[in-house]
Amino acid sequence: MNNTNRRKVIAGNWKMNKTPAEATLLINELLPKIEGFNGSDIVLCVPFTDIHAAVAAVAGTRVKIGAQNVHFAENGAYTGEISASMLCECGVEYVVVGHSERRQYFGETDVTVNLRTKSALKAGLRVILCIGEKLEERERGITDEIIIMQLYTALLGVTKTEMKNVIIAYEPVWAIGTGKTATSDQAEGVCALIRSLLSDKYGDEVSQNTAIQYGGSMNASNAAELLAKENIDGGLIGGASLKANDFTAIVKAAQ
Ligand code: PGA
Repeated sequence: MNNTNRRKVIAGNWKMNKTPAEATLLINELLPKIEGFNGSDIVLCVPFTDIHAAVAAVAGTRVKIGAQNVHFAENGAYTGEISASMLCECGVEYVVVGHSERRQYFGETDVTVNLRTKSALKAGLRVILCIGEKLEERERGITDEIIIMQLYTALLGVTKTEMKNVIIAYEPVWAIGTGKTATSDQAEGVCALIRSLLSDKYGDEVSQNTAIQYGGSMNASNAAELLAKENIDGGLIGGASLKANDFTAIVKAAQ
């Protein structure tokens, strides 16, 4: 079953870049360039401190603002953390959960990814759930096992209805920020696996309606080929999302 109605989602992951003033400048530069390219949903996942400025800058446009992490408790003694309801009240609609940099540098595990995912969904946020294998895992031939474990653990207790607000981002760790993109066939292979796993867990309808993004050195020159693949419904874009022209080229490629 192939659902051609699935909308593409192009999301920028700014990581720890841009002050609020710089965020406003970049968004103001980007908006006129992407005007008229309505073939995909566009999200900018900005640092917490940029949310206020970014939400103001995109007001009245179809660009949505996302955060890059969320804590799993509703409130409490978690110094330095931000809850889902805090994000919602600031105008945030999406949140990246389980990014490999969070897993690598900040002790994120499949279990905490699951807790964050459930907490974000409960608050009404859309979750961009990141999964992906490391280079040594790919070389050992265990990519599929890693994907199965990360996906199913992250989605424990997530209902069929809540899946409407879940986007899966397949990001092979070895391709993130390295300039080494997965080939379009490698990316398509894993995205197709993810879709079949979603079908096993939630049935065909959910699996066909869920957007699956590729992320990892997606840029102006490789986006069109990746986005043309049947099971790749968008991109999570780091480096290239910090330049208005590069991000615009990817938005255009998604038309
Ligand atoms: P990159 O980052 O596009 O710079 O490789 C992607 C990501 O980390 O989401």
